[in-house]
Amino acid sequence: MKKSRTKGQKSGYNAYQILHKSIQYCNNYRVLIVCSAILCLVGVAVSVSVPILTSQIILRITDGLMQQVILTALVVLLLNLFENSMRLVRTLLFHKLQYGTLFGLQQALVRETLKMEVSEIDKNGTGKIIERLTSDADKISSIFADYAFWLIYLISNIGVVFAVLVLSREMFILSIIIATACFWVSDIRIKNMNKVRKTLKVSRDERSSMAIEIVRGIRDIKTLNAGDAIARNVGKKIRESADYEDKIRKIGRRFQMIEYSTYNISEFVFLAAGCALCSNNMLTIPAFIIAYNYLNRIRDLFYGVARIAESNKEISLSGNRIFEIVEDHTYRKEHFGTMKIDRLEGDILFKHVSFSYSKKPIIKDLNMHIAPNEKVAIVGKSGSGKTTIMNLITRIYDIDSGDILIDGISTRDLDRNSLRNNISVVTQQPYIFNYSVKDNLLLAKPSAKMSEIREACRLAHIDDYIMSLPKKYNTILGEGGVILSGGQKQRLAIARALLMKTKIILFDEATSALDNKTQSEIQDAINELKGGYTLIIVAHRLSTIIDSDKIFVIEEGRLIDSGTHYELLRDCSLYRSLYNKDAKK
Ligand SMILES: Nc1ncnc2c1ncn2[C@@H]1O[C@H](COP(=O)(O)OP(=O)(O)OP(=O)(O)O)[C@@H](O)[C@H]1O
Ligand SMILES: [Mg+2]
Repeated sequence: MKKSRTKGQKSGYNAYQILHKSIQYCNNYRVLIVCSAILCLVGVAVSVSVPILTSQIILRITDGLMQQVILTALVVLLLNLFENSMRLVRTLLFHKLQYGTLFGLQQALVRETLKMEVSEIDKNGTGKIIERLTSDADKISSIFADYAFWLIYLISNIGVVFAVLVLSREMFILSIIIATACFWVSDIRIKNMNKVRKTLKVSRDERSSMAIEIVRGIRDIKTLNAGDAIARNVGKKIRESADYEDKIRKIGRRFQMIEYSTYNISEFVFLAAGCALCSNNMLTIPAFIIAYNYLNRIRDLFYGVARIAESNKEISLSGNRIFEIVEDHTYRKEHFGTMKIDRLEGDILFKHVSFSYSKKPIIKDLNMHIAPNEKVAIVGKSGSGKTTIMNLITRIYDIDSGDILIDGISTRDLDRNSLRNNISVVTQQPYIFNYSVKDNLLLAKPSAKMSEIREACRLAHIDDYIMSLPKKYNTILGEGGVILSGGQKQRLAIARALLMKTKIILFDEATSALDNKTQSEIQDAINELKGGYTLIIVAHRLSTIIDSDKIFVIEEGRLIDSGTHYELLRDCSLYRSLYNKDAKK
C-alpha cells in the first residue's frame, strides 16, 4: 500500500545542520574534528600574539629599545614558522574530513537512490536525480574546500582584531563598523544571487534530463531525422540555464561597484578619523599607521565571514537537494516488511488488487490465484496492464488497495531479500550493464561458479554466441548491452533469471525479439522448468502458452476470464479473437 509522505516534516536544513549531518558520513570524523579544533586553538593563540608583538616592535623602534626589538622579532619569526607548519597540518586534516565526508555522502546518495520508489523517478525525471548525484555532490566538495580556506584564514587573522583593540579602542570600534558595512553589502549580494541560483538548479535538472534523452534516444533521433527539432528544444533549455547564470554574473558585477565604493569610502572615513584622533592626542602616529595597515586585514576578515555566509547558502541549497534523496521525506523510499523466508513454495494470490499510475486506475479489483509449480499465462491487448501486474508482484510499484500474498504472506510483510531473491524476472526490455558477460550474470547470483553460469547460458541458448566473442565471457557488453542484438539481450536476461534458480519466474514477452527457431528453443528451456517452478508468462504469441495450466485474460486492468486454452477458446470471445489474430500472423 502506498505510504503517504510524513506531513510537516522538515524540508530545509540550514548549512550548519547540513554540515553536521554530512560530516557524520566521514569515518573517524570525531577524531579529525577534535585534532582540527586543537590545532585551530593553537592557531588562534599564535594569530592573537603575532600582530600584538609586531605592533610592539614598531612602537619600541620609536622608543629606541633595539635589543627588545630584536628579541621580539625573533619570537615573532619562530611563532610564524610554527604557525605555518600548524596551518599545513590543519589543512591536511580539513582535506581528510572533506574527502571522507564526500566519499561517505556520495555512497549514501547512490545507496538511497537505489532504494527510491520507481514511481518517484517516473514522476521527477532522471535529470533531477543525476544532478543531485553529480553536480550537487561536486558543489558540496568545492564549497567544503572554500569553507576550509576561509575558516583557516579567519583563524589566522583573528589576532589582528585584538592588536587593533590593544592599540586604540576608538580605531577598533571604527574598524568593526567599517567591516560590518562591507559585510552587509556582500550579504545583500549573496542573498540576491541565491534567489537565482535556486531557479538555475531546477533549469539544470531539466537540461540534464534532456541530455540523457538525447543519448538514450540517439538511434531513434537519427532514424526519425529529428535532430534539428531536438537540438531546438535542448537549445531553449541551454539558453534558459545560460540566462540564469548570466543573471548571477550581472548581480555580481552590479554589487562589485557598490562593494569597491564601500571599501573606498571606508578607507577615507578611517583616515579622517585617525587624523582627528592623532591631532587631539588620543592616538599616537605609529599606532595609527599600524591600525591603518591592519584595516585591510580586518575587512578581509569580514569578507571571509561573508564568503562563509555565501558558502553556507550554497551548502544549504545543494545539501538540501542531496538530503531530499538521502532522507525519506521528499522522495518516497521503498519500505519492506521484516518477515524472512529462505525458499518460497511459489503460491501467489491476488486479493482485490487495485493500482493506479498517478491517480489513473490501471489494475481494477484483480483476483487471481496461482498455485505452486503451475505454469500460467497472462494475456490481453497491448496496454491492458500485463507488465504492471508483474511489477506489482515484485513490488516495483506498490498497490493502492487489496493484497498480494506469496505463500500466504503479504508481499508488504516480506523483507526485501525474501521477496526479490525468490523471484526472477525477464522483462520486455531487459537492461544489460556495461560490464563483462560474466559480471552481468554474476549480478543475479554473485556466488555462481563458472560451470553454473555456462549451464544457464546453454539453457538460454546464448552460450555458443558468447564463446564466439573475442574475450568470451570476459567480453564487455557496452552501455545497455549495445553490442548485443535484441534477441541476444533477451537470451542473456533469461540466462540471468535461470541462474537465480528462484521458485517463481516471471517472463514478460521474454521471447518477443526472437526468431521462430530460437523462440521454440527457449520455449523448450521454459518447458524444462515446468513442474518445478511457478512460472508466469506474459505473451502476445499465444501459440507459446497454449500448454499453460491456466491462462488469465485481462482487459483494461480487469480479469475477465481464466481457464485452460481450450476452455477459453470455447468460452471467452476476447481470448478467441486474440488467438485467431495471432494464428493469422
Ligand atoms: N510508468 C508508468 N506511468 C504511467 N502510466 C504507465 C506506466 N507504465 C505503464 N503505464 C500505463 O499503464 C497501462 C498498462 O501498461 P502495461 O505496460 O502494464 O501494459 P501491457 O499490458 O504490458 O502492454 P503491452 O502488451 O503493450 O506490453 C498503459 O495504459 C500504460 O500507458
Ligand atoms: Mg507489457
